[in-house]
Amino acid sequence: MPTSRRGSGSVTLPTGQVLAIHTRTQDEGDLPHATKKTMADHLRKYETIFTLTPQRMRIVVEAFKETLELGLEKPKQVVPMIPTFVFDWPTGEETGDFLAVDLGGTNLRVCLVTLQGNGKFEITQSKYRLTEEQKQEDGQKLFDFCAECLKTFIDTNLGEGTVKEGEKLPLGFTFSYPCSQERIDHGELIRWTKGFGATNTEGRDVAAMFRESLKTHNVPAELTAIINDTTGTLIASSYVNPRTRIAVIFGTGCNAAYMERVGDIPKIKNLGIDDEAQMAINCEWGAFDSFEHEHLPRTKYDQIIDETSNKPGEQAFEKLISGRYLGEILRLVICELIDEGVLFLGQNTYKIETAYAFDTAGTVDDHRYFTHFFALETTLAERQFFRALAKLVGRRAARLSACGIAAIVSRMGYLEEGCSVGADGSLYNKYPGFADRVHEGLQDIFGDKGRNIVTYHAEDGSGVGSAIIASMTKIRKDKGLYVNV
Ligand code: BGC
Repeated sequence: MPTSRRGSGSVTLPTGQVLAIHTRTQDEGDLPHATKKTMADHLRKYETIFTLTPQRMRIVVEAFKETLELGLEKPKQVVPMIPTFVFDWPTGEETGDFLAVDLGGTNLRVCLVTLQGNGKFEITQSKYRLTEEQKQEDGQKLFDFCAECLKTFIDTNLGEGTVKEGEKLPLGFTFSYPCSQERIDHGELIRWTKGFGATNTEGRDVAAMFRESLKTHNVPAELTAIINDTTGTLIASSYVNPRTRIAVIFGTGCNAAYMERVGDIPKIKNLGIDDEAQMAINCEWGAFDSFEHEHLPRTKYDQIIDETSNKPGEQAFEKLISGRYLGEILRLVICELIDEGVLFLGQNTYKIETAYAFDTAGTVDDHRYFTHFFALETTLAERQFFRALAKLVGRRAARLSACGIAAIVSRMGYLEEGCSVGADGSLYNKYPGFADRVHEGLQDIFGDKGRNIVTYHAEDGSGVGSAIIASMTKIRKDKGLYVNV
């Protein structure tokens, strides 16, 4: 009988790569698992990789501030700082019925919002999950789908006679992708983000495309405003909490909006708008440090995500933060440990080796998550390691977000007086401790005064916010104020 090859080990190849080997027989049920100590050693290594020191954060804030300024000064910058033509804060007295269509990163939502004044409202909505095909097919088809859903929604939810013959309901279209705007009801898609790639859309006016679909499907709705989810959140949050100065979305994508004095937006000086007027700016900060990659601490996992994405080089800041990517960062680290022979030796790992197999919201400390989705056996020590790793990646995302918020706070001089930051999105709402980590980050940047900046769960910007903006726009135009924008 030849001697048995049973056991585990690893050899280093001439290329420096490690080849893990494990041999078992039909009689063995037990699988080799990493010891608690090995996992603790690995965790220390990843702690170093994913931790951002306060000094480093302050450097990022400075670069961020300069980038924001550049975007306000000149058109077509990497962080485009888009003037939205949403003027000033809502009064809370906006009233009426408005439709809202919200094309987000994951779902399409259709809403009817009744603004009752005094900061009160009622909302009825339907949600449709978008398929991967819809995200990639011809853009006009995507807008046709939005129009069809809106038509069905109106037919089922609005009683007969609500919309009179020949009349149209005002519609706010929340389109949460970077669009440069010449007017509030115009938006030229700069680039798709969040994995979308619908053809024949980039560089075109999505408002005109959607209007075309509304016409084809005979929908009694008049598109009055194109709105980013952050701008909607800023306005909706202020409607219910007037201390709000900034809004941030931490969802499939990541972005912020705030209110700027028109006189401080040099690139729109030619429009002749009063310098003292206030206008919401959609920062599109997810693009910070794109292409050049000079300022952000990117790891090799971040680089893999970027290079294998449908938009390499783009949305560099977003790729370190948003919900779309956090699970993938975690999965890539786990795959590295599989390759090194530290994890799941002797088990079939092909399921976990599929890109984006990991759901960010997945409960990585629940053993059923691994058995159910990946057919993998885990030990308590391993699951504790995954949980700690998920915390590190989430903490880095929160601290980087704090840098973005700090850049706006310091540009606008909000630190002394303090302000509220309306925040929304799956990451903010579901990732354990995310808000606390953002607050810690702000204190690391500003010291004790950082406590003056407080994030809170915002009001629904893409539905309610969109309706308020549609209403504010109507009131403004009825008054004859800047009617051409
Ligand atoms: C988009 C932004 C949006 C953010 C959050 C980003 O990918 O570019 O327009 O606000 O996601 O949804």
